Amino acid sequence: MARKIIAAIADSTLFLREWLVNPQRTGSVAPSSPQLGAAMARWLPHNPESFVLELGPGTGAVTDALLKYGLREDRLIAIEHNPTLAKRLQKKFPRAHIIAGDAWQLDDLLRDLPVLVDKVGAVISSLPLLNFPPSEAESLAQKIRGVLQPQGNWVQYSYQIGKRRSHGTASFRLRASKIVWLNFPPARVSVYQK
Ligand SMILES: C[S@@+](CC[C@H](N)C(=O)[O-])C[C@H]1O[C@@H](n2cnc3c(N)ncnc32)[C@H](O)[C@@H]1O
Repeated sequence: MARKIIAAIADSTLFLREWLVNPQRTGSVAPSSPQLGAAMARWLPHNPESFVLELGPGTGAVTDALLKYGLREDRLIAIEHNPTLAKRLQKKFPRAHIIAGDAWQLDDLLRDLPVLVDKVGAVISSLPLLNFPPSEAESLAQKIRGVLQPQGNWVQYSYQIGKRRSHGTASFRLRASKIVWLNFPPARVSVYQK
């Protein structure tokens, strides 16, 4: 228990430090709550063999929830732009495919993996999409569309709780959307299907 609390404090401190360096890209002052992680994780694919692509894992708050809710660590591919955070994740999740890179290059990054990943069963994204111009969000959405298997979910959270759709999602079907109040700040989790 004490070890868990120390790890959580270390993650929060690191996150805050990275936010001070680059607030726009980091997108939040604190890691997500377990409640937000759980609200994302409930949309994992049922097939345990499916790969899942996480975008913007940060210090791994949502990642923890994905694994807790049954995702096999070796089926997780996570792309984190911040090299300090990516290094921390590689230590924390040694069997996962943690990539230090840009989510907008996801197609090339998946091709470079040592395992063959044709499609993924879900994309779980914490990217601060509202901090990017709509055209950039749209180009990311096209890449997500390309990698997501039919019926696969793109799960995205946003701190604009009143706004139902994130940039770039117009060509997806909105399957579900709910506010998670137990997070700082409260967030809206939306689930899109192609
Ligand atoms: C709001 S934080 C979420 C972190 C974590 N998933 C959580 O919920 O606590 C957004 C994360 O996206 C990462 N990020 C921002 N732009 C990115 C990009 N182009 N490619 C990959 N990761 C990016 C940031 O470094 C940051 O870790």
